[in-house]
Amino acid sequence: MASFLLLRFLKLLVILSLVQFSSSTQIQHTFYQCLSILQAPNTFFTPTNPNFTTLLNTTAENLRCLMPLYPKPQAIFTPLNEYHVQTAVICAKKLGIHLRFRSGGHDYEGVSYTSAMDPPFIVIDMSKMRDINVDLDDNSVWVEAGATVGELYYRVAEKSSTHGIAAGLCTSLGVGGHITGGAYGSMMRKYGLGVDNALDAKIVSADGKILDRVSMGEDVFWAIRGGAGGSYGVIVSWKLRLVPVPATVTVFNVARTLEQGATKILYKWQQVAPHFDDDLFVRVMISPVDISGTTKRTISTAYNALFLGEVDRLLEIMNSSFPELGLKKSDCSEVSWLESVMFIAGFPSTVPTNFLLTGKPAFLNYFKAKSDFVKHPIPETGLEGIWKRFLKEDHPLMIWNPYGGMMGRIPESSTPFPHRNGVLFKVQYVTSWSVPEKDAMKKHYKWMRMFYTYMGQYASTNPRQAYVNYRDLDLGMNDKNGDNTSFEKACSWGRSYFKDNFMRLVKVKSEFDPDNFFRHEQSIPILPGKSF
Ligand SMILES: Cc1cc2nc3c(=O)[nH]c(=O)nc-3n(C[C@H](O)[C@H](O)[C@H](O)COP(=O)(O)OP(=O)(O)OC[C@H]3O[C@@H](n4cnc5c(N)ncnc54)[C@H](O)[C@@H]3O)c2cc1C
Ligand SMILES: *[C@@H]1O[C@H](CO)[C@@H](O)[C@H](O)[C@H]1NC(C)=O
Ligand SMILES: *[C@@H]1O[C@H](CO)[C@@H](O)[C@H](O)[C@H]1NC(C)=O
Ligand SMILES: *[C@@H]1O[C@H](CO)[C@@H](O)[C@H](O)[C@H]1NC(C)=O
Ligand SMILES: *[C@@H]1O[C@H](CO)[C@@H](O)[C@H](O)[C@H]1NC(C)=O
Repeated sequence: MASFLLLRFLKLLVILSLVQFSSSTQIQHTFYQCLSILQAPNTFFTPTNPNFTTLLNTTAENLRCLMPLYPKPQAIFTPLNEYHVQTAVICAKKLGIHLRFRSGGHDYEGVSYTSAMDPPFIVIDMSKMRDINVDLDDNSVWVEAGATVGELYYRVAEKSSTHGIAAGLCTSLGVGGHITGGAYGSMMRKYGLGVDNALDAKIVSADGKILDRVSMGEDVFWAIRGGAGGSYGVIVSWKLRLVPVPATVTVFNVARTLEQGATKILYKWQQVAPHFDDDLFVRVMISPVDISGTTKRTISTAYNALFLGEVDRLLEIMNSSFPELGLKKSDCSEVSWLESVMFIAGFPSTVPTNFLLTGKPAFLNYFKAKSDFVKHPIPETGLEGIWKRFLKEDHPLMIWNPYGGMMGRIPESSTPFPHRNGVLFKVQYVTSWSVPEKDAMKKHYKWMRMFYTYMGQYASTNPRQAYVNYRDLDLGMNDKNGDNTSFEKACSWGRSYFKDNFMRLVKVKSEFDPDNFFRHEQSIPILPGKSF
């Protein structure tokens, strides 16, 4: 009872401390004044600046999170160097201002540029900090948070055709938010995730210090390698290992419809893809397609692959382990590793690789997504149930990502990312639409939740695992206690994302950021009783 009253009292104090900012111009002004010692023109944008919305929009990948119902920041600050980041953190902490941090803007729920908690808030946008320093002698690269992975791949390939980076498939992902959440890509079966290849990092802590691996300590360095963005500090840059790639790799994209035996082929894929040679990564993109010349739709399963080797060895592997796909030499292209990046990201071969330097995404839409991890093959009857439900939705997409190889050999506790041995594949569900209407959003959310419920019988259980970089604010919502901000609710999504690593993340958080300065809807919470 006493602690309950104390909590109420403390909450009131927090509210009171916010009252001084009841006017939004005041928070903008105070923060701006505090930053003014930097004398950095064109780095501070308020909504009255004609360039504000363009800047807010530039990297917002999910258009849903720009809809009017999502709160907008009072200002955006674009630091040019690490000292600017330190100053922003120190000012915000002193003034009690809530900050959000954005690097590539690909957060699935937009928590990097919108906030439903503690308004008002200001966005620190890292997009002007994108230096990349490749060091072939050291077999490593230092890359700043605002760079996209596409720029990173380009700069590495520019120096060497036999070095690559193990990170995401989508080339417009920001290094700052992406790597810290795990970062898988088409070389994960060979080299693991981005975090498995992270050597060092520079971060700004809640007290404004700039720390590297040695000064932050191994616990914090463990936590940021998978604990995801916005919980521990501002990632200023990462040092990543360069991994060897052959000068010639092979890619293919082969689609099979239901009429072409897709169900049986996909049933077989589940049994072979996690056990292929580590050099081979074959994912499956599943979506409805029109049957040409009719008004009917069918399901297309597109096998999209990278092989770290030449076409002849690939054909031998496919012929012996997966003849059902019927892969032919003419389906395959031998390319450089950088060209394979473009291919897997879905760019037509007419787009030159230097497009990656623009940092632009291949597409934008309104979407809701979720993820699952599958440990036992889904039977053909289950696949048929999927097709039936898929054909009822406008633009659903599933991406099945094979595990196994290196992923199964890294212990679950070596980084916060726990989805390792025993996982056959990860499934991502996406439903997208093209109008900024609440009704459309409601309708597609409803379908997605229905579909996710159906998939429960085939997914991992206790916990039902999910990938933190595919942030899903639905997780934990169904819990009976109803308090969406409670520690118990966090334990629910926390176990889904991190399994037994969650409590260690909480412990590190409680020691490293005891005031919970870095927070968002799904940031790592501090231990109850340690708050404010
Ligand atoms: C189209 C698309 C394709 C994707 N493909 C892949 C893929 O192939 N592999 C994969 O692993 N994931 C993939 N993802 C998921 C992606 O890894 C996450 O969305 C990731 O968080 C994006 O990082 P960002 O910097 O672009 O996003 P942001 O929205 O900028 O940030 C994401 C989170 O990190 C925080 N954050 C941002 N910058 C910093 C910083 N400098 N320091 C601390 N915290 C920060 C934010 O507050 C937010 O919580 C994809 C996402 C999309 C939309
Ligand atoms: C807006 O952006 C344009 C082009 O980048 C620039 O010339 C102009 O000065 C900016 N306006 C303001 C008010 O910052
Ligand atoms: C920003 O995005 C919103 C939502 O998609 C749109 O309504 C608006 O016109 C965009 N503004 C600019 C300047 O790009
Ligand atoms: C595939 O294997 C079969 C026998 O297992 C063989 O007859 C055929 O030539 C092989 N095809 C290729 C392309 O390797
Ligand atoms: C928790 O979230 C659900 C779903 O968004 C919402 O309906 C409910 O009102 C929330 N409860 C609290 C106490 O905020």
